[in-house]
Amino acid sequence: MSTQIPAEREVGTEAVADSILSAQGVMKIFGGLVAVDSVDFSIPRGGIVSIIGPNGAGKTTFFNMLTGLYKPDGGRIAFDGVDITAERPDIITKLGVARTFQNIRLFGTMSALENVMVGQHARMKAGLFGSILRLPHVRREEAAVREKAEETLKYVGLRPDLIHQMSSNLSYGDQRRIEIARALASDPKLLLLDEPTAGMNPEESARLTAFMRKLRDERGLTILLIEHDMKVVMGVSEKITVLDHGVKIAEGDPIEVRQNPRVVEAYLGSREAKAAEAEAEGQG
Ligand SMILES: Nc1ncnc2c1ncn2[C@@H]1O[C@H](COP(=O)(O)OP(=O)(O)OP(=O)(O)O)[C@@H](O)[C@H]1O
Ligand SMILES: [Mg+2]
Repeated sequence: MSTQIPAEREVGTEAVADSILSAQGVMKIFGGLVAVDSVDFSIPRGGIVSIIGPNGAGKTTFFNMLTGLYKPDGGRIAFDGVDITAERPDIITKLGVARTFQNIRLFGTMSALENVMVGQHARMKAGLFGSILRLPHVRREEAAVREKAEETLKYVGLRPDLIHQMSSNLSYGDQRRIEIARALASDPKLLLLDEPTAGMNPEESARLTAFMRKLRDERGLTILLIEHDMKVVMGVSEKITVLDHGVKIAEGDPIEVRQNPRVVEAYLGSREAKAAEAEAEGQG
């Protein structure tokens, strides 16, 4: 008798050999609200891809399932050939997925350098007792961690004189840079960026866009981006997935997505709704 596995069961192996991540039918429900509705999604290895959509479309919720912060209510997620559906965030980090957050999550009273050193703890071998006793091998490991954090901060373009500053005293753009450095310090294969240019001026956004390409080209990283700035999205993405009310309404290259009537409608609809809201507030 044949013991061959049907092709459709080979999630994350042969069926999606050129995808570093693939998600099938992923769902998330909050109370009665379907925040992410049966989304199929994949990221080609070495690609730069984006998820866009109006506010509340489910973009961050989708990220939270990819990184293990939320447990999906349905569907499967595979990363680099491993099923990571509802896997613990620290395990997913160890497998090679790192992220930044929509709302910056740095330790404000820690320096830029310390924040990045924390990001490497997933890779550190020293146990609690070794750290407390400051055994020689632990000191050596700490020195290596510090050196790597310094190098990574330099790589993301933080001015060297700022690395010992308390991170809450730094500019928004610099804090975003530190967050990216912290994510990179865990040696990811896949980097997820949730609205990295939010609050940046056009010049900073352009610099970050160039930096994403550099990360991919020099370090071979795969990048998934959530972004509202259409100039950034259209300029850097090879593939764009559009969510609206949790549903994938379109997918394709920038030209295809820009011309898709459903996308135009989703965005126009939300802009009109916002304008009406603003008007109502003005009258209230
Ligand atoms: N922890 C939660 N509990 C309950 N509802 C949630 C939770 N997280 C998100 N939601 C809801 O799920 C929907 C999708 O939210 P999500 O934050 O994923 O949207 P988004 O596309 O990232 O939006 P934005 O562009 O504003 O960041 C929203 O209606 C939101 O209120
Ligand atoms: Mg969001």
